[in-house]
Amino acid sequence: MERKIQITEDGSATIYIPAMDETYHSRHGAIQEARHVFLKHGIALLSSNSVTVFELGFGTGLNALLTYQFGEKKHSIDYLCIEAYPVKKELIDSLNYLDKVGKEYGSIFERMHTSKWGESVALSDRFTFTKIHEKIASYVPKKDSIDIVYFDAFGPRAQGAMWELSVLEKMHLMLRPGGILVTYCAMGQFKRDLKSLGFTVIGKPGPPGKREMTVAVKTI
Ligand SMILES: C[S@@+](CC[C@H](N)C(=O)[O-])C[C@H]1O[C@@H](n2cnc3c(N)ncnc32)[C@H](O)[C@@H]1O
Repeated sequence: MERKIQITEDGSATIYIPAMDETYHSRHGAIQEARHVFLKHGIALLSSNSVTVFELGFGTGLNALLTYQFGEKKHSIDYLCIEAYPVKKELIDSLNYLDKVGKEYGSIFERMHTSKWGESVALSDRFTFTKIHEKIASYVPKKDSIDIVYFDAFGPRAQGAMWELSVLEKMHLMLRPGGILVTYCAMGQFKRDLKSLGFTVIGKPGPPGKREMTVAVKTI
């Protein structure tokens, strides 16, 4: 499928898929959205300094890179992510994330992209990274093993199957009690499905250009 680089309103790049008319991040600002949704209303809410993250859709690696930078302050992070359709290296090399986040993260970002699928690598003494090359439908999660899910699938209009109950059940299963799922999406049916699984659903203001986003806490 054809993929093109686009520059979003905060100056950071994203990838656009013409056939789906879908971008990997908000057109209003890729880095701005990632920091708002997954850091500010995500990992920063957790009280523990030792955190296990699961990301649905590794994609460009932007969330992983920003989480690495965030975690340098005080966290010990075990970062696990899944990706069914890896982005080609030429495209990754055309993204401007290191200009925006810091050139000093160049080797970390490179290692995230070049690490072997299915193998854990220690990117620092406090950040372990594992990426899995698989579709979420066949992935078998470990029960109660994750503190936070970054639910970063393409939107329900573009890829409705990612927002179905069967996928959300897996997220619920892998989360520890008290763990949270965060996403940029605030669709009604999605929130009702989360509630039906035993999540407490909290609406938060979305990043610029989006009224609301969702934080869901596994309470049952
Ligand atoms: C919105 S983009 C994710 C953006 C990514 N988090 C980033 O920061 O670049 C959605 C991602 O989900 C991946 N994806 C699509 N279908 C999938 C599936 N069935 N299982 C796992 N990943 C999938 C896509 O290839 C894409 O990388």
